[in-house]
Amino acid sequence: MRLGTTILLSLLFAQAIFAATVTTNKFGSLEVTKESEDILEKEVFFSEDAQYYDYVHRSEHLLNTIDQAKKNKLNLRRDITTCETESAFGPTDEFQFTPIFVGKLLNDESEVSYEGQCFKQIKFTMEHVGEDSVKVHIDARKKRSTFCKEALFLSTTVRHHVEYLFLERKHTITFKNLDADDFIDLDLGGIRMYLFCHSITESFMSVFNTLKLFIGGLGLNPKYPVIGSHVPEYMQQANRHFIKEVFGWEMEERETREVVLDESYIHDGDFLAITRLDGLDEIIMWGTGSHVGHSTMALWIDDELHIVESQDGWYWPKSNIQRNTYKQWIEWAKNCDFNVILLPLKDEYREKFDNAAAVEFFETIEGMPYGYHNFLFGWIDTPDDNYPPALPAEFIGIAFELFSELLPSVINSFFVEAMNQRLGTEGYNFKQVVYEAAKRNKTLVQLMAEPEIDGWMYSDGYSYVCSSFLIAMYKAANLFPGMEIQGTEFGPKDVYQLNIYNSTAVLPEQCKAADPDLPYCQILGRYRLELEGYSTIEPYSHMNENCPSVYPEYVRPDGC
Ligand SMILES: *[C@@H]1O[C@H](CO)[C@@H](O)[C@H](O)[C@H]1NC(C)=O
Ligand SMILES: *[C@@H]1O[C@H](CO)[C@@H](O)[C@H](O)[C@H]1NC(C)=O
Repeated sequence: MRLGTTILLSLLFAQAIFAATVTTNKFGSLEVTKESEDILEKEVFFSEDAQYYDYVHRSEHLLNTIDQAKKNKLNLRRDITTCETESAFGPTDEFQFTPIFVGKLLNDESEVSYEGQCFKQIKFTMEHVGEDSVKVHIDARKKRSTFCKEALFLSTTVRHHVEYLFLERKHTITFKNLDADDFIDLDLGGIRMYLFCHSITESFMSVFNTLKLFIGGLGLNPKYPVIGSHVPEYMQQANRHFIKEVFGWEMEERETREVVLDESYIHDGDFLAITRLDGLDEIIMWGTGSHVGHSTMALWIDDELHIVESQDGWYWPKSNIQRNTYKQWIEWAKNCDFNVILLPLKDEYREKFDNAAAVEFFETIEGMPYGYHNFLFGWIDTPDDNYPPALPAEFIGIAFELFSELLPSVINSFFVEAMNQRLGTEGYNFKQVVYEAAKRNKTLVQLMAEPEIDGWMYSDGYSYVCSSFLIAMYKAANLFPGMEIQGTEFGPKDVYQLNIYNSTAVLPEQCKAADPDLPYCQILGRYRLELEGYSTIEPYSHMNENCPSVYPEYVRPDGC
């Protein structure tokens, strides 16, 4: 019997005796609550961090995100002015929506007391109980007003919990199912407490979970489990719903799922564009306005057709910058439910394409890791306009700061190294980066918006996400002679909108039969991929270095 089932059954049993309530929280953990006038006792059964791999949790998050995004906008506007009375936060409005670090519990002797927003006196202590649990005692007294509520964010490096306090009484929260790693982390970093204005908790958590999804989904979590590569049905449906809400695009189901092409039809530089309905591609799509989430390219090497790409999906058998024979690639692509379209280069670009130079360049970067360092930056160009509503600009810095404490190595890789590159500094940590930027009259958000330069060498090599890898290959193949093009500024949409693809190609019969209305051939997938602005923008120097991408219209100003 699975552990989860055991817990569930014992919980149901417990519930019958103690009249406890059982709920699932935002992080996918079970909570059992018992309360009386004097005390509220809660047990939190941590699941393995569900957000990372549990499709149910993820699809729920995706659906909630749409509603939450609408609320975020309102909340951000409202709370800055209303969540301030009798505040313990200090004079600046900014703190009203910043979670504030108030202290940490390192061992059973430590105690943290502070004045909260709703309770003038809140005291925390903790207690190790049994092999796998830690109990946090919270005593909340001296309420400021009848209806106020205190929002707390309790966190270790990998475990997170949100708690609301409403009545003057004792509260205990027991964190169950902790493993040896948790205790090592706990002894070192303790349980950290943050407080913030309760009405923005939801907004904050939504941002937090979205970023976590990004980071976790990209495979940086060492606890990342191996899961099957197929996308479950409900996940696909959640994603279709999401895509419809976000883009107004109803993905049509296809009858033909695979179109077999003769390899001779596929040429150097042809773009294989992919969408996988897994909840991650969709977040990328939302952020960038793109209808595809992954980019790969055809390249003939030693008379054999290969697909080359920068890839690190957990569903894919290989990671890093890689080549696979077309046959192998198609097999893997089918296994993980890719929807794939083939976008052929125009004749003139085919002629320009220098195969030898492309292969030579590819060999110098083959095996380098996926471009985590600049993952977010192709998307963030203009300081205010690029965050999808799930990630309000105001929250980005805060969320990163929080993450830099919670997940230092990830944030270092994701963010701090890239910020050092922009500043021309080396080895500065998050706080130093912020300080250095401020000295140069730049906010963090402004610094993030500065273009990423191709060829910046990171601690683990050059850094290319899938679409910037493609552009780097095109540059190497001499498709843009005499132009200054930064591949790192290109998202998948920027690639397919380049006016270098043949939108009037004569398609093989089997392609036309499968998708009569598409101007290109869809080789795999259950859902039809339609592109906006396919092959319409002439390449030019410095393109995409200053483009906003604003939901829901994603208008691209000329020459940005
Ligand atoms: C800093 O930037 C602001 C706005 O961009 C500008 O008004 C101000 O003069 C700058 N200050 C310095 C010292 O450069
Ligand atoms: C597009 O492809 C067709 C063959 O399928 C070719 O005849 C035509 O010249 C190509 N157009 C351009 C602009 O490259």
